[in-house]
Amino acid sequence: MNYRHAFHAGNFADLVKHAALLWLLKQMQAPGDALRVIDTHGGSGLYDLRGPEAGRSGEAQAGILRLMAQDDPAPLMKPLIAAVRAANKHGETVLYPGSPWLIARALRPGDTYGVFEMQPDEHRRLGRLLAGRAGVETWCADGFAGAAAVLAPGARHLVLVDPPFERADDYVRAADLAGTVLARDGGACVLIWLPLKDLHTLDVFVRDLEDACDGAPVLIAEARMRPLDDPMKMNGCALALVNGPAGQVQALEEICQAVTAPSPAGKAQVWMAG
Ligand SMILES: C[S@@+](CC[C@H](N)C(=O)[O-])C[C@H]1O[C@@H](n2cnc3c(N)ncnc32)[C@H](O)[C@@H]1O
Repeated sequence: MNYRHAFHAGNFADLVKHAALLWLLKQMQAPGDALRVIDTHGGSGLYDLRGPEAGRSGEAQAGILRLMAQDDPAPLMKPLIAAVRAANKHGETVLYPGSPWLIARALRPGDTYGVFEMQPDEHRRLGRLLAGRAGVETWCADGFAGAAAVLAPGARHLVLVDPPFERADDYVRAADLAGTVLARDGGACVLIWLPLKDLHTLDVFVRDLEDACDGAPVLIAEARMRPLDDPMKMNGCALALVNGPAGQVQALEEICQAVTAPSPAGKAQVWMAG
């Protein structure tokens, strides 16, 4: 397992995922209803954009650094901009917050958050970052295998599934996990992040996810940065949202459009599967 998210932190794909995550958290935090968030692949939670990994990839330049410099960002990108400002108390954008930081910061009293990270070094950093936070637990374990067991009976659930997709079976495991979560809580909302390489891989995944979710509504939001004609490249990213809240199509369209707009061949596409 070689994947290190520090190389990719704050890239276009993080912007899509994290802007959507912040919108979902807000929609799901209905007054009086405690929310339980499960994050199957947490990473270390906070990334140094001046570090060797981010410096080598340069991916944040066309992602968060470009977004932070915009005069008139799309409304649904503003919560992410505000969170990144909060993570950078001294003004300059040198840190990028990952899903654990964003989720932990959004929790209300009574909400809870459980996060898996399988790499011991990354998990150690994550543990330090979240130490002492009320309602937060971290596990150095396989999130695909462990997530369903940490759902809480009677709670409202949001499950984020964000694997590295270094292994071919990450697609099948993500779809299967959505099915397992829904078998325990039919109303759970599941957000899966995917790389977009070629349409065949996306189609097979969507079919598997529909089968696993057995009739639950599935939205697919594609942020294509360039045409999908080289399957060896990450040509964009997609989100699959199961049991999403009202307004999901417009919200995800706005986010995908905002992220793809700077690319000359960029294209946003949001559709309901089935
Ligand atoms: C894409 S990163 C997660 C980024 C994070 N969700 C965010 O948005 O900031 C994927 C992470 O999953 C970890 N990982 C890989 N396989 C895993 C597994 N089966 N269970 C839990 N973590 C895993 C990797 O070590 C890596 O840190």
